[in-house]
Amino acid sequence: MPAYPPEPFRIKMVEPLRRTTRDERERLLAEAGYNVFRLRSEDVYIDLLTDSGTGAMSDSQWAGIMRGDESYAGARSFYRLEAAIRDIFGFQHFVPTHQGRAAEHILCSLLVKPGVRIPNNGHFDTTGANIRAAGGHPVDLGIEEAKDPANRHPFKGNMDLEKLARFIEETGPERIPFGMMTVTNNTAGGQPVSMANIKGAAAIYHRYGIPFFIDACRYAENAYFIKMREEGYADKAPIEIAREMFSLADGCTMSAKKDALVNIGGFLCVNDDDLFERIKQMLILREGFPTYGGLAGRDLEAIAIGLYEGLDEEYLAYRVAQTTYLGEGLLAAGVPIVEPPGGHAVYVDAGRFLPHIPRDQFPGQALVIEMYRVGGVRAVELGSVAFAYPDPQSGEMVYPPLELVRLAIPRRMYTRSHLDYVIETMAEIAAHRDAVKGVRITRQPKLLRHFTAEFAIVG
Ligand SMILES: Cc1ncc(COP(=O)(O)O)c(C=O)c1O
Repeated sequence: MPAYPPEPFRIKMVEPLRRTTRDERERLLAEAGYNVFRLRSEDVYIDLLTDSGTGAMSDSQWAGIMRGDESYAGARSFYRLEAAIRDIFGFQHFVPTHQGRAAEHILCSLLVKPGVRIPNNGHFDTTGANIRAAGGHPVDLGIEEAKDPANRHPFKGNMDLEKLARFIEETGPERIPFGMMTVTNNTAGGQPVSMANIKGAAAIYHRYGIPFFIDACRYAENAYFIKMREEGYADKAPIEIAREMFSLADGCTMSAKKDALVNIGGFLCVNDDDLFERIKQMLILREGFPTYGGLAGRDLEAIAIGLYEGLDEEYLAYRVAQTTYLGEGLLAAGVPIVEPPGGHAVYVDAGRFLPHIPRDQFPGQALVIEMYRVGGVRAVELGSVAFAYPDPQSGEMVYPPLELVRLAIPRRMYTRSHLDYVIETMAEIAAHRDAVKGVRITRQPKLLRHFTAEFAIVG
């Protein structure tokens, strides 16, 4: 199994974890209607539900929390964050927001009109939902290789540039108020995007006069992949690579809960002066005064510090190696995953792992339940529970390409022995996988059902 560099930090504060018994977990699962979103976190041993806002802050960030300036206007902490954003991202203007989706909401409510179409290599679900909420259509134009879980393309998050050019020609640039690119590409499995691909997309967008926005939340992990995998970048620091990436764009949306290593926060950057004026008005209406957005001064301070920590090369080497270690460990234990492992998460191919469970009995959800039952490990289904929907015309179910389960790794939180424990849990499930049973839905809401639906075990 691949080793990874020892943690580039030591532990100063601990948060106890409680081990539950299998009998307890069986009861808790039944009480939660077999939906792990309904479990209490104190009943979870290893929580891989998301990497968003779940990481550990550093001693410097906690010191920054104490220094936070809570003035309503013109706070010192705002100017510290402004300096960091200007240094790394280089855009002319920015506003803080309470998280990434607030930045998306402001951008979409100003630029998206009914009938427009927004291309991306892979829209995150809140981005797609914000575009739809404003009457537009999100369109994913990722490369074909991303559809094959065994294909080890080094930049599987890339945009298909030919498809993008064709899409713009067919749609007409006047119906595309802006175009996007998501780094890393979460929807494709946390897979990176190459600099050449970002350059190519930027050139196409700009040829047609379309403003180009980067969904930047995992930009540092993406920069590290570029350094490791793309020719010409081996000697560049992640911060230099990040600067080059953003110099190609006209703005970005950012969820600071990922690569800025904080528990809450986000921002929206733009170069366009007029658009910035409109953004500020919308921000005041929805989030807060432009020097705090939806955040406290202490949050701004923690983001300013976290942005640099998230770009630290030793940290990134450890971070990416941790995900690789988990992914390769699962493969060695006979668990199929989306290859190669991405930046922030490992995606298990539950459809291939549990082929005896039909899609209408949700193999991904069955695996999520089994992971908690066997090991107290919490993950998230990203298959038919989350994405299948009835065709509006025929009523037939439309299924997503794969039945996936995402194991997202919170930043600076779990050690190698925790990951070994997860691998052992999955190996134990692999040994009795034929006995794992499917589920049926007993109760579900109309929208985003995976968060609150209830299930029963089949058979
Ligand atoms: C790629 C991507 N974009 C946007 C968001 C939204 O960010 P937030 O959760 O801060 O609203 C996320 C969150 O997971 C994400 O993964």
